[in-house]
Amino acid sequence: MKATARAHTNIALIKYWGKRDEKLFLPMNNSLSITLDAFYTTTSVEFCTCLKKDIFLLNGNIMGEAETNKMTRFLDLIRKMSGSTLYGVVDSINTVPTAAGFASSASGFAALAAASTKALKMEINDDILSQIARQGSGSACRSIHGGYVEWEKGEQLDGSDSFGKQILTENEWDLSILSVLVEPNEKKVLSREGMKRTVDTSPFYTGWLETVDDDLTVAKQAIYDRDFETLGNVLERNALKMHATTLGANPPFMYWTSATVAVMQKVQELRDNGISAYYTIDAGPNVKVLCQPEDENSVREKLMTLSVVQEIYHCHPGPGITYLPNTNRKT
Ligand code: DP6
Repeated sequence: MKATARAHTNIALIKYWGKRDEKLFLPMNNSLSITLDAFYTTTSVEFCTCLKKDIFLLNGNIMGEAETNKMTRFLDLIRKMSGSTLYGVVDSINTVPTAAGFASSASGFAALAAASTKALKMEINDDILSQIARQGSGSACRSIHGGYVEWEKGEQLDGSDSFGKQILTENEWDLSILSVLVEPNEKKVLSREGMKRTVDTSPFYTGWLETVDDDLTVAKQAIYDRDFETLGNVLERNALKMHATTLGANPPFMYWTSATVAVMQKVQELRDNGISAYYTIDAGPNVKVLCQPEDENSVREKLMTLSVVQEIYHCHPGPGITYLPNTNRKT
């Protein structure tokens, strides 16, 4: 009744921004991401008749009620699907640079979905696994697969056609994704809350919805064509549009700090000087800069000249879910 799985975080090139069903985590639009090799979560789950409630350890520390309840709600879903009534011990290690602000719910829920369904010996394919992970955190459904992944929003009310699909493996096109740390502190408006406020109140959200499908079509074709310039232009545009919707919300909010803007301007300057690099930003102040592997070191060098840059982590397209042998940790 025990299994261990590893899932990697992903960075969206075309963003998931807004839900049409909050309970089932059904998105308003399709999104597109790259699974990253350097940041991942490894989770062991063991179900046992000896437990009276779930126990959650993160990086070796027993988590409090709020975190444990969140995890229990997710395991309840899996228990319901499998018919099991057993509680479990969830032991998760985040291999994300400490305090880097890159910790992602995507790798966490993808690893938890994979380990817990395997521990319960559920016979499911990746489409179902992705649908399950989606209900922990939307972006987690993309982390089931490696490489380049599209989350199709689906049409069904029950979410049975809303899951991640791989469009290119991690070995089919190498890109460099530089994770630029400018601010290690927690974000003030969580993505869940931010996207809801935007959908509910921002007049700019209509503009988002009107153009995101076209952005995705262009990005997907650029990936198939290995056309970095076209991909870079559309991913940067798409990120800026997502962030623009937050400025129209009520109350308005902004994920950027002056340091974020300094990095964005530096990337523009790099392009003005003939180095092909593009940025994207999620629901926080840190920036991901994409470039081709041959430019990775010169892009890093230029970005490091900014005093606001605390650290740069190098990522490349990484794998999907992997299952690992169980280890016995003494806790
Ligand atoms: C800006 O997947 O964290 O990173 O589904 O509410 O858990 P919930 O949200 P989450 O949102 C990610 C938003 C984003 C864009 C993206 O990853 O596509």
